[in-house]
Amino acid sequence: RLQAISDAIRVVPHFPKQGIMFQDITTLLLDHKAFQHTIDIFVDRYRDMDISVIAGVEARGFMFGPSIALAIGAKFVPLRKPKKLPGEVIAEAYELEYGTDCLEMLVGAIPPGERVIVIDDLVATGGTLSAAIRLLERVGAEVVECACVVGLREVKGQRRLNGKPLYILVEPREIDGCC
Ligand code: PRP
Ligand code: MG
Repeated sequence: RLQAISDAIRVVPHFPKQGIMFQDITTLLLDHKAFQHTIDIFVDRYRDMDISVIAGVEARGFMFGPSIALAIGAKFVPLRKPKKLPGEVIAEAYELEYGTDCLEMLVGAIPPGERVIVIDDLVATGGTLSAAIRLLERVGAEVVECACVVGLREVKGQRRLNGKPLYILVEPREIDGCC
């Protein structure tokens, strides 16, 4: 199943800029079987872990999070880019290669003590997920794990982020298919 998922992710060299091997998950979304496998693996992992919230990171975390939330009977909480959420929000900034970005969450979305999984498509530097963890911990949520479709695992098959486990399905690929 993991091979099918990896094969369905298109690698686009030098996008959005020179030297970046862009891992395009939109082709995974076009492959019904591989997309279903992806959701199923997360659902199998989290359904018996007493998870009440799936928190998805805008934008690409929104493509996986809601399906997982529905299947395990959890709610879905969007962590949004700045100035998208109405009402009272809390914000956490994080570093980009050039400049900073920010994630925001609605105050009151998650009562203290709820068990949360953070989902995104991909982890690179970990800056985005770190900001998500800080945001959730500020409201007293218990971040059980972060989950990504694509990322580098460490030698022993495990990676951690701010002390939290990081669950990754497949490693980034260098080149796409043939030629
Ligand atoms: C990409 C990706 C992750 C993040 C990973 O999102 O979807 O969210 O970068 O990078 P990091 O581990 O170095 O923080 P991006 O902010 O490009 O935008 P998008 O999801 O809205 O397309
Ligand atoms: Mg993203």
